[in-house]
Amino acid sequence: MEVPRKKLQRTPILCIFLLLSFITRATAKKVPAIIVFGDSSVDAGNNNFIPTVARSNFQPYGRDFLGGKPTGRFSNGRIATDFISEAFGIKPYIPAYLDPKYKISDFASGVSFASAATGYDNATSNVLSVIPLWRQLEYYEEYQKKLKAYVGESKAKESIGKSLHMTSLGTNDFLENYYAFSGRASEYTPSEYQNFLAGIAENFIKKLYSLGARKISLGGIPPMGCLPLERTTNFVDGNDCVSNYNNIALEFNNKLSMLTNKLNKDLPGIRLVFSNPYDILLHIVQKPAQYGFQVASMACCATGMFEMGYACSRASSFSCMDASKFVFWDSFHPTERTNSIIANYVVKNALAQFLH
Ligand SMILES: *[C@@H]1O[C@H](CO)[C@@H](O)[C@H](O)[C@H]1NC(C)=O
Repeated sequence: MEVPRKKLQRTPILCIFLLLSFITRATAKKVPAIIVFGDSSVDAGNNNFIPTVARSNFQPYGRDFLGGKPTGRFSNGRIATDFISEAFGIKPYIPAYLDPKYKISDFASGVSFASAATGYDNATSNVLSVIPLWRQLEYYEEYQKKLKAYVGESKAKESIGKSLHMTSLGTNDFLENYYAFSGRASEYTPSEYQNFLAGIAENFIKKLYSLGARKISLGGIPPMGCLPLERTTNFVDGNDCVSNYNNIALEFNNKLSMLTNKLNKDLPGIRLVFSNPYDILLHIVQKPAQYGFQVASMACCATGMFEMGYACSRASSFSCMDASKFVFWDSFHPTERTNSIIANYVVKNALAQFLH
């Protein structure tokens, strides 16, 4: 008769403990919002609301998104930051700041200021008249004001300090600007241009810090020589990845990684991490079958060789049936399944410290 009585005494204590841990977990979310800056890798539809041709708010984009809706994400479904938001127990996708469907009550738990075709360099965002990085920062300041009006000054400040700020850009500075036009290439060597971009990244992080951000993820760039568009035009190497572009990406990522170390020393209380998609994406491209993919050199959309944006839409009758078998959705952007794998990898290898 001794044993059951002990059990009876313990049960309520256990219940209270479970209840308390549940309450603390539910109320004290470590990261209340994910706040996103960058290019098409993380644009959730901001370009739908500015005059530019860098768009994807039409079929077949979004055909595997919730409700099969084209949102302006450059993929068949969700993008990496959507999966990261979900992994943090927040919401399954992060809305675009310029979308009038959403309000500050939505943005309070995550928002994207990103704009497809933008870069660190103002000259890059000028190519297709998209939102430059400095303008994304202005929108962010406006967002902070709205958040303060919505939840009050002190709660807003607390939320900003706990929120995870993420950047993902740089590819367009090289492929859409430096290697496409002679302007920057006549001013800078590739290495000098990387330093120029890293300098803009540094000022950007310092500005976020001065605005109260403490948890920041600086995004690296992918093995951009392996994007289908670059492979299609790589005649000399039999449509292999363009090694020069991959080397540039490695060098630039190395500079961003060093910048991360430096700023963690310089800025008290900052927790800056470098989130690098390079290795995982290169591995997927080199060993697609290990990840359940069948095609890595060509994209799903249209002929899979050149198309993105409106061209992808026009020729979409040629598109593949099952995008989950393809690493790339259009000639420049990964499929939803690839985005999910990259997001998991980044959460595990760079963002885990913010989870608990
Ligand atoms: C980009 O343009 C903005 C706005 O004109 C300006 O404040 C900023 O200094 C420019 N950035 C660079 C690196 O030239």
